[in-house]
Amino acid sequence: MKSSIDVFSDWARDGRDEAMADGHTSSVKAMLDFSLKDQTNPFSFIDAGCGNGWVVRMVGQYSLCNSATGVDGSKFMIEKAESLDSDHTYHCSELLNWAPHEKVDLVHSMEVFYYFANPNLLIQHITDKWLNPEGRLIVGIDYYKENKPSENWRTECGISIMTRLSITEWVGMFIHAGLNNIQSWQVGAKDGWAGTLVVTGIK
Ligand SMILES: C[S@@+](CC[C@H](N)C(=O)[O-])C[C@H]1O[C@@H](n2cnc3c(N)ncnc32)[C@H](O)[C@@H]1O
Repeated sequence: MKSSIDVFSDWARDGRDEAMADGHTSSVKAMLDFSLKDQTNPFSFIDAGCGNGWVVRMVGQYSLCNSATGVDGSKFMIEKAESLDSDHTYHCSELLNWAPHEKVDLVHSMEVFYYFANPNLLIQHITDKWLNPEGRLIVGIDYYKENKPSENWRTECGISIMTRLSITEWVGMFIHAGLNNIQSWQVGAKDGWAGTLVVTGIK
């Protein structure tokens, strides 16, 4: 078993980061559509566990986006992001050890939060240290109890920590962190696949 950061570093080195981005695109677009649908003011953005930076590059193109930042623990993912994009900022760090100099309006994350033994610590850290008042946290998760096809991913991927929680448990952690207006739904369910679980709340 390896750490998630080591496994995804291998993916960045052999190009599997690109197929992963393709696989996540429809869920991410649905999450961004939701987050930005009523946006009329300039906003700042962080992608937590940004991989090769594809969402940072995408959101950075919105005319109202005044800063887009990516953070990831894999040096190989961050090197790849920086090689593709000199317009935005990338940081290589364990998410629990990092905070922005200036808090932001939108923190987005796709397929990252279950790589933490205690995701509630990460949700609380982001709520307290990354988000502006009225800022939004939105996360997408494919590995959760109700999504049966993901049941064996931990063994298949050989990753030491993958925390498998239910929809109620994910929503409960957003409530516990003090977030408001919490909503959750599933995107792209079909043929036994329960879809990406999206959970979001406002500080
Ligand atoms: C499944 S990938 C998703 C990447 C990206 N969000 C995407 O949709 O393409 C998970 C990412 O989280 C990063 N990651 C995992 N655990 C982390 C941690 N503790 N701190 C920082 N990054 C972490 C990995 O390096 C990897 O790039």
